[in-house]
Amino acid sequence: MSEQIERPGAAAWVPARADAGRLRAAAAECRGCELWHDATQVVFSAGPASAPLMLVGEQPGDREDLEGRPFVGPAGRLLADAVTEAGIDRKSLYVTNAVKHFRFEERGQRRIHKTPGVGHVVACHPWLEAEVAAVAPQVILCLGATAARSVLGRPASVTKERGRVLDAPAALGPGVKVLVTNHPSAVLRMRGEAGFDDALAGLVADLRLAASHVGE
Ligand code: URA
Ligand code: SF4
Repeated sequence: MSEQIERPGAAAWVPARADAGRLRAAAAECRGCELWHDATQVVFSAGPASAPLMLVGEQPGDREDLEGRPFVGPAGRLLADAVTEAGIDRKSLYVTNAVKHFRFEERGQRRIHKTPGVGHVVACHPWLEAEVAAVAPQVILCLGATAARSVLGRPASVTKERGRVLDAPAALGPGVKVLVTNHPSAVLRMRGEAGFDDALAGLVADLRLAASHVGE
């Protein structure tokens, strides 16, 4: 049996009607779950205060945890390349994560990424909800199943939902469209394998599809 973990959720730390800058500052104090304890710092978002297209990842990785910015490590470089390939200006995107602190296991000197549990996703969700309210995106592209779980508020399979245009739950605001694609880390893991080119092309196609639903 795992021990019972105190996980009040982020709501008590989320300021009301705050813009993304104030949310970012407030998130440094969050104790909504235990992940803050072993992480270096909170990793909030990058991008403009208001953006039509929002990308949601899983959680910060090792580099992000050290630098305090999302998608600055290897997966971030792959994502940046895919964004450029899709003809999207990276600076126009609001990029964030479902979970704002790095969850990992220590193996010797190395910190190995550990997928956040549903309990972490649920605990951290108030931040994402507040970001959507502040940034007011028209389209949210979920990078991987953890992001999809948080945005859609239900379990979601990337394979099943890819390529579909879904409606966001009412709590995220009316008329917001949601699409789901592979996480760039999943694509990165295929490097050197036969399916890599197709997986990368799929990510680029999904970015294009998401961007095409902006302004509709
Ligand atoms: N993977 C994520 O999901 N988010 C990051 O910020 C970096 C890697
Ligand atoms: Fe708060 Fe999210 Fe960090 Fe947990 S992961 S402490 S809920 S910001």
